[in-house]
Amino acid sequence: MNVITCENYQETSRKAADIVIGQIKQKPTSVLGLATGSTPLGLYEYLSKAYQNGTVSFSDAITFNLDEYIGISHDHPQSYHYYMDRHFFSKVDIREENTHLPDNDEDRLDAIADEYNALLKENPIDLQILGIGSNGHIGFNEPGTPFGNETFITCLDEQTRKDNARFFGSLEEVPKKAITMGIKNIMRSERILLLANGKEKADAIHGMMHGEVTEDLPASVLQLHPDVTIIIDKQAAKKVSS
Ligand code: F6R
Repeated sequence: MNVITCENYQETSRKAADIVIGQIKQKPTSVLGLATGSTPLGLYEYLSKAYQNGTVSFSDAITFNLDEYIGISHDHPQSYHYYMDRHFFSKVDIREENTHLPDNDEDRLDAIADEYNALLKENPIDLQILGIGSNGHIGFNEPGTPFGNETFITCLDEQTRKDNARFFGSLEEVPKKAITMGIKNIMRSERILLLANGKEKADAIHGMMHGEVTEDLPASVLQLHPDVTIIIDKQAAKKVSS
């Protein structure tokens, strides 16, 4: 694992944006795997600015998001469809038909998961962006999820629901289920870029890098991937030996 430790959030976001821009410039038709949550907001802001000042174009890029909640509509302010439109897609020249998020129509979740897996096989991810949960989840692969899973329906861990209650009015409003790419989909990516900020992530980062590879800490599987870059701030890096 290649680890880049930064002074602060701005620096982690800028360094991540430089890597994404480099990827798109080298291969304009790149397939990007995208994450949501608070961590990549700065990255999306830098990428949007880079598009607006003519540094990069996303017109030929293809994107696949990791996950979506089940039980809220696409126009709910906390849905990941809404998040991606608001923070990235509406700000750059990406074509709507090239953007993909798992749908959350409860009448056909299994079919949606199968279709997403098929699309991912046709469009292998060149660069996957990841955040990490305080419990070590990546995507919504919660502790205990088999490493062999492809896109599937998951029950959110109580820790994840508590962590994400800050985005909703209360814990009760946080959905209990989600659809997520599985570890197997994530591990097929050519390159992985994981971002983390803040002391709340320090234990997960330490476990991911130095602990045993175990389904109890899903991000630890990244030790087995040949091309992972981790960009973290000093707080998230505080338990990591250099
Ligand atoms: C989001 C996702 C999650 C988040 C993680 C960290 O699409 O897949 O794994 O990356 O929960 O969230 P934040 O960045 O809000 O701390």
